[in-house]
Amino acid sequence: MLTSNENDLLTRTGPGDPGGELLRRYWQPVALAEELPTGGAPLPVKLLGEDLVLFRDERGRPGLLGIHCAHRGADLSYGRLEDGGIRCIYHGWLYDRTGRCLEQPGEPAGSTFHQRIRQTAYSCVEAGGLILAYLGPGEAPLLPDYEFFTAPSEYVAPTKALVACNYLQANEGNFDPVHLSFLHRRIESDDDLHVKDVTPTIDVEETAFGARVYAIRRVAVDSNFVKVRAFIMPNLGAAAGDGGGGYQVNWHVPIDDTSHWRYMILFRRTTPFDEGDRRSFRNGVNADYKQSRNRGNRYLQDRAEMKLGTYTGMGAEFLTHDTAATEGEGLIQDRTQEHLGYTDRAIVALRQMLLSAVRDVQEGRDPPHVVRDPAANHFADIEVTQGLVPSSDSWRGFWKRDFASVGRSGAVPTRSTS
Ligand code: FES
Ligand SMILES: [Fe+2]
Repeated sequence: MLTSNENDLLTRTGPGDPGGELLRRYWQPVALAEELPTGGAPLPVKLLGEDLVLFRDERGRPGLLGIHCAHRGADLSYGRLEDGGIRCIYHGWLYDRTGRCLEQPGEPAGSTFHQRIRQTAYSCVEAGGLILAYLGPGEAPLLPDYEFFTAPSEYVAPTKALVACNYLQANEGNFDPVHLSFLHRRIESDDDLHVKDVTPTIDVEETAFGARVYAIRRVAVDSNFVKVRAFIMPNLGAAAGDGGGGYQVNWHVPIDDTSHWRYMILFRRTTPFDEGDRRSFRNGVNADYKQSRNRGNRYLQDRAEMKLGTYTGMGAEFLTHDTAATEGEGLIQDRTQEHLGYTDRAIVALRQMLLSAVRDVQEGRDPPHVVRDPAANHFADIEVTQGLVPSSDSWRGFWKRDFASVGRSGAVPTRSTS
């Protein structure tokens, strides 16, 4: 349970809100690169409650500006892409991607007024099929060296889906190992190890990027089924992938306080994606990135399917199940009314890390996982794996088995093992 004040601290994400200021200290996805093809139209976007326009200049470089023209507020997403920037269609003011006003063609010849105009502008980079922006103060930190940012594009499949609730409850859902024994269950599937033991031991290990979350299920007298996933500060996580030796990232990016984009990045180490793989990864997501099963149609829940098919009666897609569960908690979950149990251990740890990080920002410090030192910018130890481990063995360190087997460096820093 949180106090009302703590709940506000973590769920309010606009400019000036403590939680919003925390999220602004990290690079955040602002669009998929496929939404902004070179030569394409500017894209109106909303991120952390701010209305912005994303565009490419004539050299193909992404720029992110406040959507309302500094002159009299016209919408720059209708603007003309020309002359090294974006030009407002109302009176022709021209802005470059750094927010400088290059021209005010209606002002008298020789006027220097344009030199005093600054449009809100945020830094952008492109990586892993995403365009990311830094909305915080001062110099942007390094983009974390995640494997899914540096891998060849054939090994990375990014997409996104609209979720109509606050980002935090969906972010928390990624660190709730017990819901795999229920929400995503297939009825009459007797080989599902998640169902063989629905009361796993849960263990949380703090790391430089956030935390490793272990779920340990006793599935035989002499062996445990161990799953390892990663919480990455402050609003993403990596969970089991699709068998290609990698993992899936879910990155919950606030549009505003009551809706967010779930950016999903599937990353493989061993097998490149083909078009069929990419299509099936988008199952349930329409061309506009809204979900075909949604709150408006009650996720097309089918009571007959609940008897023989799936636990939820909402089809096979985990995305649908997660969306129904987290949207059901309300637009912003009232955490003063919840009752947390043992199964919520990782969520409690996550909230403590976020509240501590909010305090860091309030007191003028960089929060954890804001990366400024190139020598520390290595995150190959974000390892997501699962397998049977002899009961006599420790589950901590189990993730290193796969880590070593694919030949990645073992020299990875782990901040503490509390
Ligand atoms: S409102 Fe944009 S140029 Fe006048
Ligand atoms: Fe889930």
